Amino acid sequence: MESRLLFRTATEEDLPHIAQLDREVFADVAYPFFVLRQLFDAGFTLVVVDDSERICAYALAVGSGDRGWILALAVAPRRRGAGLGRELMRETLCHLRSLRVREVLLSVEPANASAISLYRSLGFAEKEGTAGPTRNYFGPGEDRLIMSLTL
Ligand SMILES: CC(C)(COP(=O)(O)OP(=O)(O)OC[C@H]1O[C@@H](n2cnc3c(N)ncnc32)[C@H](O)[C@@H]1OP(=O)(O)O)[C@@H](O)C(=O)NCCC(=O)NCCS
Repeated sequence: MESRLLFRTATEEDLPHIAQLDREVFADVAYPFFVLRQLFDAGFTLVVVDDSERICAYALAVGSGDRGWILALAVAPRRRGAGLGRELMRETLCHLRSLRVREVLLSVEPANASAISLYRSLGFAEKEGTAGPTRNYFGPGEDRLIMSLTL
């Protein structure tokens, strides 16, 4: 039987499970546990999808004034293609809206077609004034596309 999925904000107890999922999805570029811990304590937004056995997806975001950033989005490989990423983004955007954020930004690898397609379907577009990927955004050879959405 398919387990019920609960979308909720993360608790401190979720942090090791989020870190584990992050390693599974992002491997050597995953957030170290201590960074997740500090971001949680600093009040960053962490939304998780809980299937009652484990955390199967999470999003990390921050709102500062009227501008917010989506900093991470990860769905466990076994759960992909079932609408979880889109629903999780919607929940996270809803949370940012409740913080009075008006513009949401994110960075994405230019070759990450599935993520770019998801973001476009939610109304994100390449940020005005950025013609193509921003070169070396995360350091040498690490170009990123900056996308934005007005809430
Ligand atoms: C990107 C990611 C979050 C999508 O999650 P998901 O739950 O599989 O996505 P959904 O099922 O909600 O799909 C939503 C939309 O994403 C796009 N998408 C998802 N998988 C895709 C694929 N394999 N190819 C192309 N588009 C895809 C489609 O636009 C899809 O809409 P549609 O179903 O109406 O066609 C997931 O693949 C993931 O965790 N990837 C690795 C981590 C990552 O790249 N994170 C983003 C970093 S910026």
